[in-house]
Amino acid sequence: MSKKDDFSSLNISKETTARLQEQYPTIMALATTPPEEVVRRCEISSTSAARAVNQARKLIGMAEPITAAELFERKLAKPRITTSSQQLDEILGGGITVGAITEFSGAFATGKTQLAFQLCINVQQPQEMGGLDGKALFIDTENTFAPSRVAEMSYSFTDDPKAFLQNIYVSRAYNADHQIQIVEKADKIIQKNNVRLVIVDSMASHFRAEFPGKDNLPRRQQMLMAHAETLQRLTESYELAVYTTNQILSNPDSIFTGTSSLEPALGFAWGHRPTHRILLRKSRGTTRIARIFDSPELAEREAVFHITPQGIRDGPPLDY
Ligand code: GTP
Ligand code: MG
Repeated sequence: MSKKDDFSSLNISKETTARLQEQYPTIMALATTPPEEVVRRCEISSTSAARAVNQARKLIGMAEPITAAELFERKLAKPRITTSSQQLDEILGGGITVGAITEFSGAFATGKTQLAFQLCINVQQPQEMGGLDGKALFIDTENTFAPSRVAEMSYSFTDDPKAFLQNIYVSRAYNADHQIQIVEKADKIIQKNNVRLVIVDSMASHFRAEFPGKDNLPRRQQMLMAHAETLQRLTESYELAVYTTNQILSNPDSIFTGTSSLEPALGFAWGHRPTHRILLRKSRGTTRIARIFDSPELAEREAVFHITPQGIRDGPPLDY
């Protein structure tokens, strides 16, 4: 165990340590969590939680700023998961990155879920093949996870799709509260199984259905912000990628898309959270167009890809 994962180097009681480790299996996870959440989840006093979190932050080296040069190095070193489309990878700076939330929005059948399936396979590949040698956690809010389709996509790599399916954990989320709970309780499964990709497909459906109208907006925003915070913490604690999908709304005065009147649902409370936001739209047949419209480091560019029987690819399917 590295010093950074050794809870005994924190100066706290054995009982508190046990409670902390039950919820946060690594020092990094503890260090990146707001103390109030630690109080709630571990049922310890606010003084103990603050002390534990502060010590964890020191141990991890979070208490001091780093130079921009070092940050640049760290960002360059961040591994990525290929989408299986070179064009799409290119506009994403090499693929879906760890340490960030990447959101794909689009109308129905634009390929959001198909890309999620493809990433669940690709994350399992070794790094030289565009993967992270890790597993996936798929949080399915719309009951659209299709093992048979994932198996079909995996035949490009194996004769034994079961081996791929075995490395994808699927959690069906039945409502917004359940969705939040699954993410809050994900630390252990992630750490124990080397999960490097968390998918929430879709982020929007339960929240929009359960909190309609203006009266419900404050509560919805509050829940969404806390949910997003937990997802962001997971990306940083476990060096994993979060891929979320979102529905789109029609807005005649869109500030997101300029001339287009389509924008992702869930408004500002969620909108500020994903690091990279991409809009998908349909073109002819199996062709789809992806456009990055909000990212601090990626230019606004478009990529064309196809949904083929084998999965996401640059070119059209052979039988098309
Ligand atoms: P919503 O969840 O409804 O908002 O849509 P989505 O963006 O998640 O769409 P999805 O990823 O499910 O993409 C649907 C598209 O993928 C459709 O155009 C289908 O034709 C295509 N597709 C779905 N399943 C298969 C399949 O098994 N083989 C092939 N070749 N294409 C498929
Ligand atoms: Mg879908």
